[in-house]
Amino acid sequence: MAAQPKIFVTRPLPAPVLELLAAHCEVRLHREDNPIPIEQLAEACREVEGLVVCGQRVPEAVLIEAPALRVVSNVGVGYDNVDVAACTRRSILVTNTAGVLEETTADLSFCLLLAVARRIVEGDEYVRQGRWKQWEWGLLWGADVYGKTLGIYGFGRIGQAVARRGGGFSMRILYQSRHRASEAVETELGAQYVDRETLLRESDYLSIHVPLTAETRHLIKAEDFRRMRPTAFLINAARGPVVDEEALVAALQDRAIAGAGLDVFEAEPRVHPGLLGLPNVVLMPHVGSATGETRLRMAMLAADNLLAALRGKRPPNLVNPEVLR
Ligand code: DGY
Repeated sequence: MAAQPKIFVTRPLPAPVLELLAAHCEVRLHREDNPIPIEQLAEACREVEGLVVCGQRVPEAVLIEAPALRVVSNVGVGYDNVDVAACTRRSILVTNTAGVLEETTADLSFCLLLAVARRIVEGDEYVRQGRWKQWEWGLLWGADVYGKTLGIYGFGRIGQAVARRGGGFSMRILYQSRHRASEAVETELGAQYVDRETLLRESDYLSIHVPLTAETRHLIKAEDFRRMRPTAFLINAARGPVVDEEALVAALQDRAIAGAGLDVFEAEPRVHPGLLGLPNVVLMPHVGSATGETRLRMAMLAADNLLAALRGKRPPNLVNPEVLR
């Protein structure tokens, strides 16, 4: 019997997933739920043919030390943590987990939108701190959601799932995206394709759903906040560096916009200190896809991707198909 391929898994994934991997591979597991320093990761990858990563940077420095590596399976839809170009140059397949987490991430985006609009966190604190003494007419006024304009920047699967949720709130849906959706999708979601300027000017809620690339870094910057409505809210559960965080803090402090709901930050886990003191922001620690059901689906799909690649088959979620050409 041929020796099983060696693989390294960088997070304690759910037991059924680890059992599946162990049935086909010699698994080395990083049991702690934290990112591994790069030198340590490079050391662990010296002999492996497969790598399963989650919230873990994989720069070229790791690939250089891993001559046998054939596949990097990312547990996540965004793969800006992996140097895909360097993998492609070395004929290493890169896969992601698109297709199983979009609805869950859209839920979180919409949670942030509702939470910041209706001041849920402030209300919760108010009650817990025993400050609630009587019913008050003027207490914690928020902003309406239903019937407002929802601007969606990036109209892939997550953006479209957010649009569907907006439809449930009778919102007017505008979107801007690299690729315009088909007429059928626009009709189904009641979404109108608009230019960037219109999106910024007309959105009551601007929700970001673009991947992080060289082109989308600081896609939303100081002058954009000046174009937005002073009553508008920014929602970002995509990637932190898509928004210039310094400019966002200034916009919030100056009341150029009304508030923000953020699941992602420019230099995670560091959060700009200016955000921490603001009552009109809701902050979450990058948990867009963090539900039990979805995390299991993601980990299972990552295992399927890895096993397919190691068997010489095309993985279901291949990010760099040019390697197979
Ligand atoms: C994703 O799937 O991209 C999540 O943000 C986890 O990184």
